[in-house]
Amino acid sequence: MKKLFIRTYGCQMNVYDSTRIADVLAPLGYRPTDDAGDADMILLNTCHIREKAAEKLFSDLGRLRSLKAAREGMILAVAGCVAQAEGAEILRRAPYVDLVVGPQTYHRLPEMVAKLARGAGSLIDTEFPVEPKFDFLPDSATRSGVSAFLSVQEGCDKFCTFCVVPYTRGAEFSRPRDAILAEARRLIENGARELTLLGQNVNAYHGAPGGLGRLMRDLAALPGLLRLRYTTSHPLDMDDDLIAAHGDVPALMPFLHLPVQSGSDRVLDAMNRRHGVDDYRRIVDKLRDARPDIALSSDFIVGFPGESDADFAATLDLVREIGFAQAYSFKYSPRPGTPASSLNDQVPDDVKSERLQILQALIEDGHRAFNRDCLGRVMPVLFERSGRYPGQLVGRSPYLQGVHASAPARAIGTIMPVRITRIDTNSMAGEIETAEVTA
Ligand code: 5AD
Ligand code: SF4
Repeated sequence: MKKLFIRTYGCQMNVYDSTRIADVLAPLGYRPTDDAGDADMILLNTCHIREKAAEKLFSDLGRLRSLKAAREGMILAVAGCVAQAEGAEILRRAPYVDLVVGPQTYHRLPEMVAKLARGAGSLIDTEFPVEPKFDFLPDSATRSGVSAFLSVQEGCDKFCTFCVVPYTRGAEFSRPRDAILAEARRLIENGARELTLLGQNVNAYHGAPGGLGRLMRDLAALPGLLRLRYTTSHPLDMDDDLIAAHGDVPALMPFLHLPVQSGSDRVLDAMNRRHGVDDYRRIVDKLRDARPDIALSSDFIVGFPGESDADFAATLDLVREIGFAQAYSFKYSPRPGTPASSLNDQVPDDVKSERLQILQALIEDGHRAFNRDCLGRVMPVLFERSGRYPGQLVGRSPYLQGVHASAPARAIGTIMPVRITRIDTNSMAGEIETAEVTA
């Protein structure tokens, strides 16, 4: 048996890819380990979305170099979006790396490992192959967590002017419905009770008639499945059927990550988001009509080229108006090869930092207020695992809040009503209620 250590950076899609990379290497005898020092293969699954990713990778590689030197035959591999964008540069600067593989070619890893074993030098594969990798990935046999990711769509054709994804992940691709249903059934057999459907632009799913709304209804009908989520969505693709599904598919959780990026029409236009602030408001209104208890999360970029104080103030206004349960915010980071990176009116870093701080404080206020409102409520909690103390389990509310409660181990994988009795910084605590669930 050989040992495989995978370090995953970035988004949930990478987390999913890492599990599939482990699946693809399992027939070669690789079993996962948490100890890099003990590994026969170390694979870094990288992210290129924001600055310093490449520099971080090179410093990580520098550290791993001595580990590799100390362990005869160890394979060092780089996968993911930095591999895709900077493959040749990686081999130039870190020639001790054995394998470089992009997000669309990791199904070829066994072939590459075999070539290495036959004495080939470092290998790189960052093609965008015509064959979808999904057709070549073995079924996962490993036991799944209660909550599992399932990739249904990849790539992006939107070309927001700040974003590298269309270049690193390639064109939009949707997996066929039957393949998704088969993988969902397998995950459920392996213990999953909640599925989060993943895609860079997941609601642009077109792998079957009816799009994501219809797919959601099909998945909700699978026996054993208790909860469904999906991420990440683009406002333009929030079609009426998907919005309606939020009202009539009970398994679909009332928590949606819907990035808006900015509250200024001028900035949205320069970002090529192809919708205005009012369009976003209308979508949120429709979602709230369909599912009144829905909570929203979002992404924001501050300091996009040309963003004025007034543009930034409009973003703050939108955050106050919508009332996000949570949101992520980032300083604009010029990505090589993207249109916005060559715009002239780049915003100075100190201005970006100041805006980020202000926005994050406002978002944090909203987040705390949302959590505070949960105090005293009874929420359905899907228990995922044992907690730190004996007799304690940890689960999640519909809004992905971590909830601790005393419950028997057999409650793992089930939903129980929990009255929230305490709010901490990163989680909540509660007591199992026998009364009706109200949230
Ligand atoms: N600079 C800053 N943030 C970015 N994002 C994507 N590209 C950039 C960039 N160049 C953010 C967006 C996106 C999230 C995943 O990362 O907000 O929604
Ligand atoms: Fe990037 Fe999302 Fe825009 Fe696609 S829709 S280009 S993934 S930000």
